[in-house]
Amino acid sequence: MTRSAGEQPAQTSAVTRQPPTRQLHVITWGCQMNVYDSGRMADVLAPLGYAPTPVPEGADMVILNTCHIRDRAAEKVFSELGRLRLLKQAREAAGGRMILAVAGCVAQAEGAEILARAPYVDIVLGPQTYHRLPEMVARASRAAGAVIETDFPAEDKFDHLPDAAAPQGLTAFLTIQEGCDKFCSFCVVPYTRGAEASRPAAAVLAEARRLVAQGAREITLLGQNVNAWHGAGPDGQPATLGRLVRWLAEIPGLSRIRYTTSHPRDMDDELIAAHAEVPALMPFLHLPVQSGSDRMLAAMNRRHTADAYREIIGQLRAARPDIALSSDFIVGHPGETEADFEATMQLIRDIGFAQAFSFKYSPRPGTPAAGAPNQVPEAEKDRRLQALQALLREQQAAFNAACAGLTIPVLFTGPGRHPGQIAGRSPWLQPVHVTGPAELIGTEVQVTIASAHTNSLSGTLNQERACA
Ligand code: SAH
Ligand code: SF4
Ligand code: F3S
Repeated sequence: MTRSAGEQPAQTSAVTRQPPTRQLHVITWGCQMNVYDSGRMADVLAPLGYAPTPVPEGADMVILNTCHIRDRAAEKVFSELGRLRLLKQAREAAGGRMILAVAGCVAQAEGAEILARAPYVDIVLGPQTYHRLPEMVARASRAAGAVIETDFPAEDKFDHLPDAAAPQGLTAFLTIQEGCDKFCSFCVVPYTRGAEASRPAAAVLAEARRLVAQGAREITLLGQNVNAWHGAGPDGQPATLGRLVRWLAEIPGLSRIRYTTSHPRDMDDELIAAHAEVPALMPFLHLPVQSGSDRMLAAMNRRHTADAYREIIGQLRAARPDIALSSDFIVGHPGETEADFEATMQLIRDIGFAQAFSFKYSPRPGTPAAGAPNQVPEAEKDRRLQALQALLREQQAAFNAACAGLTIPVLFTGPGRHPGQIAGRSPWLQPVHVTGPAELIGTEVQVTIASAHTNSLSGTLNQERACA
């Protein structure tokens, strides 16, 4: 489908431990991990008296949490900063102060350039230094000049962050793994997020229990390569994600577990077995493949073949027959020929995806593919992307249409678009709308799907009673 992975502004909230005296506005771009990080930055600033505000006007501090994954990332940041500068100037002219911070992956990759081109920015901080934010704010408040923290500190930020304080609601994110050592030819993440690291199982389980106590019914485990998670379990034995999922599934009240984003190379037998044996593990998996051509997969340094991917999908479907697949695709990576592109189309036809994200290759400074000689012309990339997205749209529509007539559990998360309606999500992440009472929000209820739309389903309640 055509939407790009997470680019919506996200809301942040924080529990205040003293009466809020200052207003914090956070703008979030990029992946779900940035959404999670924005919440954690609000948490770390709450003890200083910062409470969230939905608008930048009048804020004492604005954080722009940035993404560097594709296209003109830096230009987008500078244009947003230009807008925020006017607000900062207006506030200062009125005798106030606004601390302006740039966080996230552009800050990590281009911190020095940000300070050179936007000297009015007070703080530049990379994703691994959020726990130092209070100290940076103190330094910036003393007007000692701009503060930049983009090293990869020896200490682990999670050891220094307070417990996640802000309730996230019925569906929550939980970062369990961060960073990447895979160095795909096209990707900036290993440079912006640093080396692969897992949070200890005990810390993950404690945070999950807190989220459930605050009302979460569904938790999505996050990591740049979430299925590379590893750690010692309560029994002291080394464990991988499949085991962690089993431990999480024992938390009373947690009815749905998801994880994203996975790498095909880290799909081990234990995780596949968890899909067969843990009912709370939802039958939906986002497993990026990028290309269906072995030549391109090698050029991309993905270190698996197209058939290895087909094989994993076969195992997953054998383990959990109702599992639906989602993926990421890149068209026009340097050296991609028409035959390579056709191999990607064939892989899509062979597998059948319920959902997908697809992108034109975008050269990222400092990555190996950016300097490759055989770049694909823009017009060719456009043509391939359109053909690929047309096929994926067809598959998504077919998947949604096949849901009509099924009775499925829906976790209701809020009111629907129209009065008297409530909305939730299916096991396969489709939004579902029904006519029903607001008391069902927060529960999982069987719904019979009446009709499928492009991006959502509608149906009728099978019973007006929670089934879980
Ligand atoms: N860790 C995940 C992906 C993280 S980035 C994985 O290994 O698959 C999310 C998606 O952005 C990638 O899957 C890829 O499809 C896309 N992407 C990353 N860098 C890109 C680039 N330079 N140009 C176009 N798309 C890119
Ligand atoms: Fe980027 Fe590849 Fe790492 Fe995914 S596995 S984050 S695409 S380098
Ligand atoms: Fe973007 Fe950084 Fe996430 S580059 S996709 S915000 S890891």
